[in-house]
Amino acid sequence: MEPQLGATSHGIAATPGKIDIRGVSLRYPGFGSGEGSNLALDNVSFGIGDGEFVAIIGPSGCGKSTLLRLVSGLFPATAGTIAVSGQVVTKVPPGIGFLFQSDALLPWKTAIENVAIGAMLAGKGQKEARARAHALLHEIGLGQAIDRYPSELSGGMRKRVALSRTMAYEPNVFLLDEPFSALDAQTRIHVGNRFLRVLERLGQTVMFVTHDIDEAIALADRVVVMTAAPGRIAAEFPINLARPRDYYQSRMVPGFRELQGQIWDVLRREMQGVLSREG
Ligand SMILES: Nc1ncnc2c1ncn2[C@@H]1O[C@H](COP(=O)(O)OP(=O)(O)OP(=O)(O)O)[C@@H](O)[C@H]1O
Ligand SMILES: [Mg+2]
Repeated sequence: MEPQLGATSHGIAATPGKIDIRGVSLRYPGFGSGEGSNLALDNVSFGIGDGEFVAIIGPSGCGKSTLLRLVSGLFPATAGTIAVSGQVVTKVPPGIGFLFQSDALLPWKTAIENVAIGAMLAGKGQKEARARAHALLHEIGLGQAIDRYPSELSGGMRKRVALSRTMAYEPNVFLLDEPFSALDAQTRIHVGNRFLRVLERLGQTVMFVTHDIDEAIALADRVVVMTAAPGRIAAEFPINLARPRDYYQSRMVPGFRELQGQIWDVLRREMQGVLSREG
């Protein structure tokens, strides 16, 4: 499939290739060679424009997290190339903020200290970093928990601290792996809206993995659906809903349900393949 560019969050045509993924395959070392080795991604190609928000959705195990890890430069692809801001990725690219699926906080540091690390990595002094962490934690509904240690927080609270740490870094590219998955429905709306407001103000590029079709449509400029493993691109859906958007209210706008139905048709087909192979 040809790399395709969408519109930015502001509706302006995207600059080509903020993230450029070309012919990327990834084979994890298996138990033995050939048959036993595990092909996680199979010839994946697409581009993400500057300031574009792309949501990636696909059956469990199809390689979404693997793809994010490759873009973040943690390990190289078996085949193909990835470039961020025109530079081929060989190590963690500058200006990238990532939040992995099982992101760990430093257990010996409090919530505010964990978030301040993000700001300090962005070059802020200790005082400014702490002030920024304080503001972010308040905005994200954790004002009461700033001095608690990770072991004293719930799973959803820890996830919000980790997201705040990524936001404190003020990256120009966000790579986010199910960042809202541990949050209850109300918190999710609040955090989702808070995140949308930041993006609409600063126009960062986002690659966002989610299992939630509604969330993907509500947030993204384009939804990329992956096939069952080994992951390829099954379909892409441009989302032309007006911005600024509301994480919850945008589900009521005309066209939302149709998009949801179209994306679900593709996803269901892919998931049926997985379930029938397993069953
Ligand atoms: N470190 C690893 N070593 C070997 N195989 C791995 C490793 N990490 C992932 N895999 C395999 O690669 C495939 C893709 O995994 P990945 O975590 O990318 O899927 P995913 O789409 O993110 O799934 P989920 O939606 O459940 O998070 C799976 O078959 C998984 O078992
Ligand atoms: Mg994953």
